[in-house]
Amino acid sequence: MQQVKLIVSNWKMNLGNKKAARLVNNIKKLKNIHPNYKNIICPQFLLIPHISNLVNKSSVLLGAQDCHYQKEGAYTGDTSIELLKENKCKYIIVGHSERRQYHKENDSIIRKKVDLVLSKKIKPIVCVGELLKERQSKRYVKIIKNQLDICIPKNLNNIVIAYEPVWSIGTGLVPSLKEINEIYQLTKIFLQKSKKIHNFYFLYGGSVNSKNFKEIIENTSVDGALIGGASLKFSEMKKILTNS
Ligand code: PGA
Repeated sequence: MQQVKLIVSNWKMNLGNKKAARLVNNIKKLKNIHPNYKNIICPQFLLIPHISNLVNKSSVLLGAQDCHYQKEGAYTGDTSIELLKENKCKYIIVGHSERRQYHKENDSIIRKKVDLVLSKKIKPIVCVGELLKERQSKRYVKIIKNQLDICIPKNLNNIVIAYEPVWSIGTGLVPSLKEINEIYQLTKIFLQKSKKIHNFYFLYGGSVNSKNFKEIIENTSVDGALIGGASLKFSEMKKILTNS
């Protein structure tokens, strides 16, 4: 378990210029953010230059929600890693289940993205997690190991894995603390044995709010959270970031 916790806001396709600026400015003004928390905000692409200026010289770090797996080229509608780097993105979420579902991204495409992001010295936040039917049929261990196997290269230090059960995202359903720890343990053993990875960050994501965050962070082995809906509300982020 790492001492530093990563608190990652995934704004998804929400917030316009004004609301985003208001939220970031309020977060920047927070005085008592927990000293071990790294606060990372991932806005939609078009907001990134604006938010990048706002967080400049603050403790807030910028991330993106995706990038293309090629450096540049004829990929209409996509965004390149070079541009994200130019705009000071330090983290990139890769393989979110909404990308897998709506953009048909599979594990091998996600692996190409992970390789590219790492090659640019940006930190990928690699999402894994099972569907409800995969949990119910008890295939989730196999599914998650397979995702880790394809998406994660060997011999890395401090890779960020976000465990997001798909059935938990935006539903209000959260796995038990025991279930979260089970996935942490299997990730740890799998990464050690198959990937020679001994240090990693393990985030939990899926219906995280200020109440369950406190419970999860204090009673499981997680190194932080990937937060969707609650990350759009200052009142929630205030409680999460100050651990109150
Ligand atoms: P949620 O989303 O917190 O709204 O469930 C989490 C995510 O999809 O990253």
